[in-house]
Amino acid sequence: MRISQRSIEVVRETANIVEVASEFTALRRQGARFAGLCPYPDHSEKTPSFGVTPDRGFYYCFGCQRGGDAIKLVMDLKSLSFSEAVSYIAERSGVELEFEGSPADAQAARERNKRRRMVHKALAAATAYYHKYLLRSGSTEARQARKYLENRGLNDSTIEEFRLGFAPPRGSSGFVGAARKLGIERQALDAAGLLSPRGGERFLGRITFPISDRRGRIVGFGARAMGDDHPKYLNSPETEIFTKRDLLYGFPQAAEAIRKQQSVLVVEGYTDVLMLYQAGIKNAVATLGTATTPAHLRSLSGYADKIHVLFDPDDAGEKAIERASAAAAELKLDLRVLRLPEDPADWLLENSAEDFSKLLANSIPALEYVFRRKTERARGAEAAERSRIVSEIKDLITEIEDPVFHGDAVRLASEALGVNPETLQQRRSPAASRSTRGPAPADPLQRAGHELLALLLSRPDLGEEPMKNGVGGPSLSEPFMLADEDFANEDQTRIFSLLKEHAGQDLDSLIADERARPMMDQIGALSSAGEKLYPSEAAIREAWLRVGILSHERAKRQTPDYDEKDRIQVETLRLKDALRAVATES
Ligand code: CTP
Ligand code: MN
Repeated sequence: MRISQRSIEVVRETANIVEVASEFTALRRQGARFAGLCPYPDHSEKTPSFGVTPDRGFYYCFGCQRGGDAIKLVMDLKSLSFSEAVSYIAERSGVELEFEGSPADAQAARERNKRRRMVHKALAAATAYYHKYLLRSGSTEARQARKYLENRGLNDSTIEEFRLGFAPPRGSSGFVGAARKLGIERQALDAAGLLSPRGGERFLGRITFPISDRRGRIVGFGARAMGDDHPKYLNSPETEIFTKRDLLYGFPQAAEAIRKQQSVLVVEGYTDVLMLYQAGIKNAVATLGTATTPAHLRSLSGYADKIHVLFDPDDAGEKAIERASAAAAELKLDLRVLRLPEDPADWLLENSAEDFSKLLANSIPALEYVFRRKTERARGAEAAERSRIVSEIKDLITEIEDPVFHGDAVRLASEALGVNPETLQQRRSPAASRSTRGPAPADPLQRAGHELLALLLSRPDLGEEPMKNGVGGPSLSEPFMLADEDFANEDQTRIFSLLKEHAGQDLDSLIADERARPMMDQIGALSSAGEKLYPSEAAIREAWLRVGILSHERAKRQTPDYDEKDRIQVETLRLKDALRAVATES
């Protein structure tokens, strides 16, 4: 849903550019304007050339010649989209946003905002409660928790800075009792993921690690058992605001160091972040039990240009690094990987921060790592396998748009494989290029479904009408609706049916749907493929009808009944007419 133009204007007017800019750099008043060091990460300077004019609501840097309003500054420095930046500023300046669309949509949006605020409130209150309980409670369990953290080597200032806590064990009135007194409704606790499926408190008797989003608001918890209880970590369930695959633990605490050093270290565990921080390595964040995804890299790319990933070299880890390295090349990030014999938290108990820095300095570029692994496999493989790997490597190289990276990759691969660089250079035909990531489906129905889903995912707003009412045409007595069964396979069917349920909503709401989780990679690939298909209403209607036609043709082939075949044939012809009509009108 779109933020209304009026709201955007109100946000622009209310935003205090000095306040917003001060979040990123220290400003000093100079008459009617303010000046400071440029906060853009790629422009490091010693004398201030960044100026802010509050009465115009503008900033401008003489050094790097970038300027704009508060929204632009937030977009650039926090890597947010336009509407994210508007929401961010609106929230800080207390502007209630209005949304375009029907009054019902606007009402739904207001309710969603209200619900979210309650959820944030519940999480903030829980953090404070657990934290205080850990620090102050005289109970045996709280004492054990303090002892446990001490034994792990964590000191008080780290515990405070990361607001670690302890959720009282069963038997005490706990946070649920405290929340009642604060006027936080049960429904909000539930929506915040603070309750267990049975309705009790979720994290009872565990050490709590609050997890924040990039804006620094707490969105969930990881909670560790003190002993050998299973599971070792219990995390918040996926909620509207807690999406494990793109969150990074420790981000707000690490942000400043990341920005300053223009580099970030991605590790796997909460405790790793804490121990590194304590050792003075303050630019580390952790994924939440997942490998580093392109989504993580995208969000980090606004803050750093060098990313070190400490990773588990199991099969899943290898695949993930491969995807990450392709994404990094596209984002022009210097992605490096390194491995340690044990978790950094444990390693740092025996080794110094300097030793760690030496390891970092010796990390290998991810691309090189991926090539090496692939070429190692190619060397030992039989001819068929080998040629498959070589073609995988070619594909990887083709994905790299940056000419410098591209050249490096070709050189590395040709050296390692002992093949002529030219054979690696050849570009694939445009039709088979990146726009249809993943093997392009061979079956026409599958291909049509792929295209339709790609278009719908990249522009859910354009898909609302056909999703709800179908696609009409002069020869059709009523608009043609696609059914789940019209698609070529299970995956497409599932994505289509999800899309239908979320018709008229944005991609975020679809992704927030739990059922979308297992299909995330496909959804991501499809929506980025869609952007390259020039989405338009007409394009969607065409693709829609094509799926219908091909699905009818499939049905016709499959039925043994000749009357049925005829009936399908008639409908198919009508759909073809409709398709022609769309094609001529556009
Ligand atoms: N994890 C999880 N659920 C589990 C186990 C692990 O979500 N049952 C996630 C957590 O984010 C955890 C990360 O995977 O931080 C790494 O797991 P692991 O190495 O087992 O834990 P550590 O963070 O190293 O914790 P500790 O040092 O306390 O053993
Ligand atoms: Mn670990």
